[in-house]
Amino acid sequence: MLIAEIIRKKRDGATLSTEEISAMVNGIQDGSASEGQVAAFAMAVFFQGMQPKEAAQLTLSMRDSGDVFKWQDLPGPVVDKHSTGGVGDNVSLMLAPIVAACGGYVPMISGRGLGHTGGTLDKMEAVPGYSVTPDNEKFAKVVKEVGCAVIGQTANLAPADKRFYGIRDVTATVESIPLITASILSKKLSAGLESLVMDVKFGNGAFMGSYEEAENLALSITRVARSADLPCHALLTDMNQPLASAAGNAIEVVNAIEFLTGAHRDPRLEDVTLALCAEMLLTSGLQSDRSAAMSAVTKALTNGKAAEVFSKMVHALGGPSDIVENYETHLPKPKMVIPVPAPAAGAISVINTREVGLAVVELGGGRRVASDLVNPAVGLTGLLDLGVSVEKGDPIALVHADDAASAEAAKQQILSAYEIGDVPKSTPVLRNIIEG
Ligand code: URA
Repeated sequence: MLIAEIIRKKRDGATLSTEEISAMVNGIQDGSASEGQVAAFAMAVFFQGMQPKEAAQLTLSMRDSGDVFKWQDLPGPVVDKHSTGGVGDNVSLMLAPIVAACGGYVPMISGRGLGHTGGTLDKMEAVPGYSVTPDNEKFAKVVKEVGCAVIGQTANLAPADKRFYGIRDVTATVESIPLITASILSKKLSAGLESLVMDVKFGNGAFMGSYEEAENLALSITRVARSADLPCHALLTDMNQPLASAAGNAIEVVNAIEFLTGAHRDPRLEDVTLALCAEMLLTSGLQSDRSAAMSAVTKALTNGKAAEVFSKMVHALGGPSDIVENYETHLPKPKMVIPVPAPAAGAISVINTREVGLAVVELGGGRRVASDLVNPAVGLTGLLDLGVSVEKGDPIALVHADDAASAEAAKQQILSAYEIGDVPKSTPVLRNIIEG
């Protein structure tokens, strides 16, 4: 089957057959489709879209391009969550141990920061000694013994997606609903999940800016997941402001530990985390209604079990055994912390969340190019929420930096990201739940 003919067919708006899609994916995986052909295929799909059946076939072919985990002898369901990415979104760090403490098994294969959004792997790597690249045997052992493991994509997990995504990233073809659907689900299905909960974000800090786009993505993912026999619910959550009051790597680990122990919980982060955990208990069948699921989640936090699971996971993957008790001594610290004073009195009326994420990149906490090293110590704390009233000079955030120039640049970026007006307004963080 000629790759050029498959591209031509999609370019002209026709529906591709199962055989054509699997030939294309084989070409992507074994390199017989050139970079130019893969890019042309991505652009054809970008403009012509795909039928749900085609997106489902693309998902399955990419899943089968590498290893597919099979979890055996686990006494509970295998379940995970995936977020489309945000700022101050450290939900995974709490969610995996909470769900494990409730009887689920969470093999969480996570990514690095992308653009202005933070990445779970970069956060976990802020913990000294923690390995995000265990071999498959160790990964399986930690999931079985601890209940969860947060690691990076293994070399042979959906390798066709790895090449395809790399080419999409540099050809302006990431923002295609069928391609995003197949990319996310192929990796999740390769991890051997039995159910999935999606956190699809909308707003000025999300890849999907409008609610409608996010809803279309959620509908596409839940529909394709269903056709692959993967129960999947999607929560639509607001990213018109950072989710936590903290953004950065070690800084978000501290925020997560304080959440788990109850020392401090940001309210919007708490709402989203608990809702996602409860949904995971529902989709996986561990609980049969939302209020029972919510009680189980709350109990796992208040009885300390979730914090204990986090501690065990960190130690099992090479980190210190006392991270929860002594995080201050283990986590890297910045050289300086400076406040960002409010330029006027009033209420926080707009936050350009993408700019807040880019301020973390400016500090060195994210990457400008894929090969950049990330500074784990830098970031932002004390980020105020929409609607909060301030007096002139009150800190709207604290910048954690390693040098004065980047601290000043980040401070200016926060000042331009925050607008202060007369009317306090805020929006609920959880907008909708779609049951696939
Ligand atoms: N995240 C992914 O894993 N794939 C996409 O295509 C977009 C976001």
